[in-house]
Amino acid sequence: MAEAPDRYAVVGHPVSHSRSPEIHARFARQTGQAMEYGAMDLAPDEFEAGVRVFFAAGGRGLNVTLPHKEAAARLADALTPRAERAGAVNTLAAQPDGTVLGDNTDGAGLMRDLQVNLDVRVEGSRVLLVGAGGAARGVVAPLLAAAPGVLVLTNRTMERAEVLAADFQDIGPVVACPFEGLLDDFDLVINATSASLAGQRPALPDTAMSRATVAYDMMYGSKPSAFMDWAAERGARQVSDGLGMLVEQAAESFLLWRGVRPDTAPVLAALRESDA
Ligand code: ATR
Repeated sequence: MAEAPDRYAVVGHPVSHSRSPEIHARFARQTGQAMEYGAMDLAPDEFEAGVRVFFAAGGRGLNVTLPHKEAAARLADALTPRAERAGAVNTLAAQPDGTVLGDNTDGAGLMRDLQVNLDVRVEGSRVLLVGAGGAARGVVAPLLAAAPGVLVLTNRTMERAEVLAADFQDIGPVVACPFEGLLDDFDLVINATSASLAGQRPALPDTAMSRATVAYDMMYGSKPSAFMDWAAERGARQVSDGLGMLVEQAAESFLLWRGVRPDTAPVLAALRESDA
């Protein structure tokens, strides 16, 4: 009898709209890996027990999405340095000794989408990161590692941006600034807020964006977000959603689990085509 394929899944709440099963099925086909990848909807009070049952039953790995990324960091037996720094885990991997490792591939996914897929230069640039929740926290260190001229953190609730900037002072030029203080334009503006989910955009002043700006929304949906529409109205040089980041973070997780890096370009193209 053929051996059962290794089992993986994405866990979230809700999770029905996740594109991760489709992405990992394409990666598995492309690389010839014998694996299956499902979706598990677990409410916060079911999360820990559900994850333990999954691994106890022989599951090999999980992607973790909202609202469980911090809980996953607490549950993991050990964290990679980048997950430790982010304080959040989007990838859990069963280890040979039976323990569970927590990693965070979101930042690497964003940087690869920006720098490889979209050819955006971060080094020496003025970068604005909007938001101070878990999504923003996970990408501050990878952004600073790309040596921007300055990384400005802004948030509707200013104190949260200040806390975030203070937490990363030691690794690069990062400052906090309130919305109304953003008087000069940026080379790159990244929306890491959840405003797009509610059809809203952060109330940034028009001065933050010019024709030289690249605008990036870490969210993705079937149509452009309010932030992307605003950037396009401002004449931004380039406007992108976060679908590329999703595919790239998935590829990093796949590499951790299977030791093979899938080719992301055809998968991203196929997803865009199925949206069209
Ligand atoms: P996540 O883990 O997805 O980042 P979170 O911790 O709830 O979720 O953070 C959501 C982020 O989106 C916050 O930065 C939040 O701003 P506040 O800290 O002021 O709440 C931001 N956000 C959500 N809706 C927003 C809106 N309509 N305008 C501006 N910022 C918004």
